[in-house]
Amino acid sequence: MIMCAASMTQDCKQVPHTRPVSLSTGSCVTIKGTPILPFSNDPQLQVDFHTETCEKSDIAFHFRVYFGHVVVMNSRECGSWKCEMRCNNVPFEDGKPFELCISVLDNEYQVSVNGQHCYSFPHRFPPCYVKMVQVCRDISLTSMCVCN
Ligand code: GAL
Repeated sequence: MIMCAASMTQDCKQVPHTRPVSLSTGSCVTIKGTPILPFSNDPQLQVDFHTETCEKSDIAFHFRVYFGHVVVMNSRECGSWKCEMRCNNVPFEDGKPFELCISVLDNEYQVSVNGQHCYSFPHRFPPCYVKMVQVCRDISLTSMCVCN
């Protein structure tokens, strides 16, 4: 089943954008958007997979893009950030729309950008613990779809 948050009129959704989800192996979260600032202004994108439907809950997967610089991935447990993973492969383009796909595998999340697999993040929480996805920071959000 595909649950899509795209507006019927193609208007951009407001960020922060929050929605309840249930994830399992085979699920895929697809986020389409465009950075709203030039990379010289250091825009960011953040996607968080929360274990409850509130922002203070644990984060099973934190994905933060510093456009033009680095991608940071982590989890947050009881308010504390855990072991951070960083990657300097950041194939987002200045001013251009992107498609980010986060696929749930048995052992990890796999993240692709514009169809190219870029990042892996081994599960620290079972994916079925994830109850809410939040997308925020300096992007206009065209759509977010969850495919189970
Ligand atoms: C911190 C940042 C947090 C989160 C964390 C990930 O420096 O303040 O928002 O991104 O890194 O390890």
